[in-house]
Amino acid sequence: MRQRPALARIVVRLVLCAQMLLPLTSVAGIKETKHNLSVTGPGEVRAVSETQICIFCHTPHNASPAQPLWNHELSAVVNYVNYASSTLRSYASEAEAPPIDGHSKLCLSCHDGTVAIGSVVSEWSEIEMVTVPGVIDASRKLVGGAGYLGTDLSGGHPISIVFDESLVLRRNSSEPPLSKLRWPIVDPDIKLYPAQNGRGVQCTSCHNPHENKAAGGWPPFWKKTTHDEVCLVCHEPIPPADAEW
Ligand code: HEC
Ligand code: HEC
Ligand code: HEC
Ligand code: HEC
Repeated sequence: MRQRPALARIVVRLVLCAQMLLPLTSVAGIKETKHNLSVTGPGEVRAVSETQICIFCHTPHNASPAQPLWNHELSAVVNYVNYASSTLRSYASEAEAPPIDGHSKLCLSCHDGTVAIGSVVSEWSEIEMVTVPGVIDASRKLVGGAGYLGTDLSGGHPISIVFDESLVLRRNSSEPPLSKLRWPIVDPDIKLYPAQNGRGVQCTSCHNPHENKAAGGWPPFWKKTTHDEVCLVCHEPIPPADAEW
């Protein structure tokens, strides 16, 4: 939708442009995932007639598909309920959690349920979606179902936190001892992304929005074959698999 002031749109585009100067990876797999939100999508959340797949997230008005600029309207929410625990060393309390930024903000533009799924910058009007009671309502926002997170993120992994050597030293020298973090993080899939002017954990550290590598399909949009393989890149020893995201 073209309601956002032009300058804000340009700023969003420039920020994302810098993050996306990467070679085009295989996105063929997305067609069979729930992130194919076009009319051909396999999930229950899909468009009434829109046939383009990438348009829900990337602008089509860009000649090079290797630089897919962000297209989905961002959420205005700032007061998410964040993960908190007495053992966390990134921040001391829920109130001190850093604001959600980076890739996590892109994901939450659909998953916090405050923006319509078809609300994209490149179109004059919203892309029309099929209504599914309890999942996507007449406002075309997620209201429930497997993908709905809402604005309470306290049950998930901490996100938009800086992950650097100083955090590792603070955590790994705690008394009594806490589960330790690994350092440095060197892995082809599990990466640290821009966060709070540094690098840290975002949704995309664990999830790949284009495909699912998990054996058996769980966890969803997973970057590796098993749940634990992902955690073990950053953690040692591994926290209980059923404890957190
Ligand atoms: C549901 C949202 C979503 C859809 C749909 C989507 N993408 Fe993406 N894409 C993202 C996000 C988020 C990122 C940035 C995070 C990342 O790099 O994984 C991204 C990054 C990219 C990148 C740069 C990073 C990389 O993986 O090389 C390319 C290229 C890309 N997308 C292409 C596509 C194409 C082509 C389509 C359509 C077939 C598509 N995307 C559909 C969300 C989406
Ligand atoms: C354009 C909107 C949009 C964006 C942006 C988006 N998603 Fe989704 N996502 C959806 C929809 C719609 C579903 C399917 C929900 C359903 O079927 O209940 C979904 C499903 C999922 C699921 C699977 C849920 C399940 O249990 O099957 C995961 C995981 C997920 N998204 C993660 C992400 C991550 C991580 C990002 C950012 C990198 C992201 N999404 C960006 C719309 C989006
Ligand atoms: C530390 C890894 C990790 C990070 C970071 C992470 N997730 Fe997940 N996510 C998981 C795992 C594991 C599951 C499946 C287990 C579960 O259901 O809790 C999951 C499940 C989901 C689901 C399905 C619904 C659900 O609760 O089961 C959605 C949607 C989702 N994630 C989106 C996101 C978004 C959006 C972000 C960023 C705000 C994010 N995830 C960050 C690991 C992660
Ligand atoms: C990209 C790196 C990365 C990945 C992947 C990752 N984590 Fe984390 N995790 C962290 C960081 C950094 C912290 C913050 C530690 C702190 O602040 O003390 C953290 C915190 C946690 C905490 C909270 C610890 C506390 O003291 O409250 C739990 C639980 C956790 N992770 C579980 C997992 C699980 C389970 C997985 C796999 C699904 C996973 N993590 C994947 C980096 C990662």
